[in-house]
Order: sequence, then structure tokens, then C-alpha cells
Amino acid sequence: MRTPLVIGNWKMNGDMVSNEKCLSDLLERVGPTLETGGIEMGIAAPAPYLFQVAVRLKGRAACVWGSQDVSDEGSGAFTGEISAFMLKDFECGFSLVGHSERRARHAETNSVASRKIQRLIEAGLIPVLCVGESLEDRQAGRAEVVVCEQLREALVSMSDDSASPIVLAYEPVWAIGTGKQASPSDAQQMHAALRETLSQRSDALASNTRIIYGGSLTASNAAVLFEQPDIDGGLVGGASLDPVSFASIVALSQLSSVSAASTSH
Ligand code: PGA
Repeated sequence: MRTPLVIGNWKMNGDMVSNEKCLSDLLERVGPTLETGGIEMGIAAPAPYLFQVAVRLKGRAACVWGSQDVSDEGSGAFTGEISAFMLKDFECGFSLVGHSERRARHAETNSVASRKIQRLIEAGLIPVLCVGESLEDRQAGRAEVVVCEQLREALVSMSDDSASPIVLAYEPVWAIGTGKQASPSDAQQMHAALRETLSQRSDALASNTRIIYGGSLTASNAAVLFEQPDIDGGLVGGASLDPVSFASIVALSQLSSVSAASTSH
């Protein structure tokens, strides 16, 4: 059984005061759910607020925090960059890698993503690799080819063992922040294709890797997506800024894992 994971990606939003309120409202709502066990919740905060988030989440059951990006270099003269070891120092558990907004705005290629994944693994952090096709790719019928290639290239220089902590986030680019989301069957099909790509390397890697869905995920559409057998949680942008919605999405991931466990017995 894979533990469902729901990560809130705050992107470039928030400030000290609003973060404090968001975190305390969220923890009040989600605390009992997380204590029951069986799921994990993460917050990908803007770098200046990682410490604030760490202070609020530390010691809480099933909570992790992490960064939205990391340098592909280890240390040195790289002005403005943040290394994986610095994130580790702030007790981050993960970092997003290859988010489509970074691929589009900062020319982040699959090989840059690959180096970032290696830096994170060296530092003992979980890489959350984001993959996803553009609308043009989907309309041309090449979504699966593009997305599976993003995965293959990002893992190219990694052994199966060293790749094993990775989390994948399938985020169709056309669904991010648009209010459109992949249909549950299209999302399931892509998640299954990603798992199949992993199984070409190793069955254990395929069955243990969590593949989460992102792209306009809300409390109203999460349940049916989380019911799909290869969807192991969510990467939530806009809806994670509202503690009520985000807490509901976290609770829905727990419900789906409970019902999956009962049908597998
Ligand atoms: P969204 O963003 O939920 O606002 O679509 C998801 C993401 O970009 O991670």
C-alpha cells in the first residue's frame, strides 16, 4: 500500500501574517485527520517562509514541508540559488522539481530536472518531479509519449535504488490554474502509463512510487480522482491557499485510502 500524499503548493503567495492564519486554521481542521494516520500532508512554501512553516508543522503527525525549487548545483558562486543541503538544514522533507511554471519561465529542461533530483537525493530529500503535457501535445495525441519521456529523461542517470524515494506529480499544463482538470479516466490512464514506465526499470520502483495528480484540484473534484487506483494523492495550487478547501482535500485522500484498503481485503 502506498501512503497517500497531498501537497499544497503555495507558489508565490502569502506573507507572515496570512501564512500564520492559514497554518493555524489548517492545522485545527486537519490535525485529527492526520493523527488517525495512513496519509501525509505537505506544504511547498516560498523559500523565505520555510522557517515559519517548519516551526508550525514540526512535531505534528504526518506533516512535511518543502521547497518549490532547488539548485542543480551543490554549493558555491550561484547567486540567488538555494541548495538541497540548505533545504535539509531547514528540515525540509522534499522539493518540487520541474514544475511547469519553472519549465516555461526558467527554461528548466529534463536534464536540469535530473541534476536537481540527484542533488536532492544526495541531501536525503524527496524529489517531487512534476511532469505534464501542453494542450497542443494532448490535442496532437502525444500526451503519453511526452510525459513518459519527461520521466525517463529525469531519471536517466539514476540507479533504481537511488531513484526510489521519488514522488511523481502528473500535472497537465492546460489544467494548472485554469479550472479545467483531466477526467478521472484520462488521469488514471496517464498515471498507469507512468507506472508502466517505472516498471521498465524495476517492479518495486513501479509499485512503491507515489504518483499524485495536480491541476485545478479542488474539494469538489478530488474524491473521484483519488478513487483511481494509480492516483496516490494530489498537488494542490490555488485551493491550498484556502485552509477549508485544502483540509477537505486532505480528508478525501484519507477516505479513498480507507476504501481502497477495505476493497483489497
Ligand atoms: P492549481 O495548481 O491547483 O492552481 O491548478 C497546481 C500546481 O501548479 O501545482
